[in-house]
Amino acid sequence: MRLSLIVAVDENSGIGIDGNQPAFISEDLKRFKKLTTGNAIVMGRKTFEALPKGALPNRRNIVITRQKDFSPPGCEVIHSGDELHEVCSPEESVFVIGGGEVYKLFFSDAIRIYLTLIHYKFPRIDTWFPPIKEDEWVVERSEGPYNDEKSGFSYSYINYVRR
Ligand SMILES: NC(=O)c1ccc[n+]([C@@H]2O[C@H](COP(=O)([O-])OP(=O)(O)OC[C@H]3O[C@@H](n4cnc5c(N)ncnc54)[C@H](OP(=O)(O)O)[C@@H]3O)[C@@H](O)[C@H]2O)c1
Repeated sequence: MRLSLIVAVDENSGIGIDGNQPAFISEDLKRFKKLTTGNAIVMGRKTFEALPKGALPNRRNIVITRQKDFSPPGCEVIHSGDELHEVCSPEESVFVIGGGEVYKLFFSDAIRIYLTLIHYKFPRIDTWFPPIKEDEWVVERSEGPYNDEKSGFSYSYINYVRR
């Protein structure tokens, strides 16, 4: 499989506060939908439970949990990182969509990172994205900054590929 991570981070690599994302930017959500639709998404049980309407449509939803009896509608469930390699085909595009534990789990397998950088340092962050080291990753494309009028945040898109 071709494994990518897709994430929105703040300037301190913060990704979560109290089980929620620090901010939602509507253009970023549209981009997320465009990139992931038709492909597989993988998420931790906690990120899945925070989705307002459950499984996301028109994508293969894969949830990772240690609970043997967890089987939410519209989702496939795996119980280890290794199992992802078993259920996905070599040519499949797979996007890890969070959260903190699951980005960490799949970080070393990923070949791409689709990062949305929110130019702000949120207080009370409790979940972070792993460090993106310059000797391991190269910026393939960078766009922005753009301004989100609704939230007032400015943000940029940065795509990394593994060296
Ligand atoms: N900014 C962003 O782009 C973004 C994206 C997604 C999420 N987030 C944020 O990230 C936070 C959630 O992250 P989190 O780290 O708390 O939780 P998470 O990664 O979403 O889910 C953690 C859960 O995944 C399962 N899991 C993790 N490693 C596993 C393994 N090796 N084998 C089997 N199951 C495993 C466990 O489920 P069980 O407990 O059921 O066993 C664990 O409790 C929230 O604040 C959310 O809003 C941010």
